[in-house]
Amino acid sequence: MAAGEGRRNVSRAILVVLGQFTEDVEARIGREFTVRRVSSDAPTRYEDLLRAADGADAVFFNPVVKLDAEFFRRVAATVKVIATFSVGYDHMDVRAAAARKIALANTPGVLTDATADVAMLLLLGASRRAYEAQQLVRTGAWAKMSSGARLLGWDCAGKVLGIFGMGRIGQAVARRARAFGMKIHYSNRNPLPPDVAGDAVFHESPQDLLRVSQFLSLHAPSTPETQHFLNAENIALLPAGAIVINAARGGLVDDGALVAALKTGHVAAAGLDVFEGEPNISPEYAGLGNTFLLPHIGSATLETNTAMGMLALDNIDAVLAGKPAPSLVKI
Ligand code: DGY
Repeated sequence: MAAGEGRRNVSRAILVVLGQFTEDVEARIGREFTVRRVSSDAPTRYEDLLRAADGADAVFFNPVVKLDAEFFRRVAATVKVIATFSVGYDHMDVRAAAARKIALANTPGVLTDATADVAMLLLLGASRRAYEAQQLVRTGAWAKMSSGARLLGWDCAGKVLGIFGMGRIGQAVARRARAFGMKIHYSNRNPLPPDVAGDAVFHESPQDLLRVSQFLSLHAPSTPETQHFLNAENIALLPAGAIVINAARGGLVDDGALVAALKTGHVAAAGLDVFEGEPNISPEYAGLGNTFLLPHIGSATLETNTAMGMLALDNIDAVLAGKPAPSLVKI
């Protein structure tokens, strides 16, 4: 029994919480559970999580820690459900969890719009050279520019936006990009039903998609198959001067190859919200003027973070009550 649990209401389930959530979510956690906190900043957070899970019923965590096969081998048998504060679940070994009969929950649906908004922010930020523009204003360099000089970006209206991975978020990006006058092409495991696809052009081969993508936006999950999808070979297929957007997962991009293409201008600009190894990102990105970089804020709005937290808790409540849960990860 952890310190402070002596006075707890015995009917309350024990929830291990790693992370800090919005006020409404924290209030619900406090109302419903006996809470064991684990610091997400501690270098020992993996071991701390395992220790705290001993005798606990459920875990709710910010995906800053990887729950690998060893974690699921060692985690206490009392734990029935683990909910991640993310739609992506590439940081959890789903098969190892299933072997221990631990339910895993994620947060699909509720972050679609927020993440698609950030993809558009990246698309516009990269194509209109927002980083360099900000620098001109903030450093005073604008006042020293010759009066005829302009920071020229690239139009998006009339251009082809290739979407790699046409799930909920990819489709939401397509809706937004259409309003900006873009032509939508996509590649996905399966073509969308015609009423959902609308005028979007399906490419069975991702390489065919790359060949026409003046803008390319990545929205596929991170899996062994998509790892480093955007490598040197595939980048070479993009039209010269293409713009690359990634609001999905850093692992989809081979950083060395993208940096090289940004240096030659074959990729004119990149808008990136996610990075392999984040928050320790490939240092070369920050040194390039033609990158527009964000610190993984795709789902980071008050409303969306509250909805994600509530969905995670709905999942935990349902599993602990033996009821159908709204969004469990399927193998
Ligand atoms: C997700 O939900 O997967 C987002 O990337 C936030 O982690």
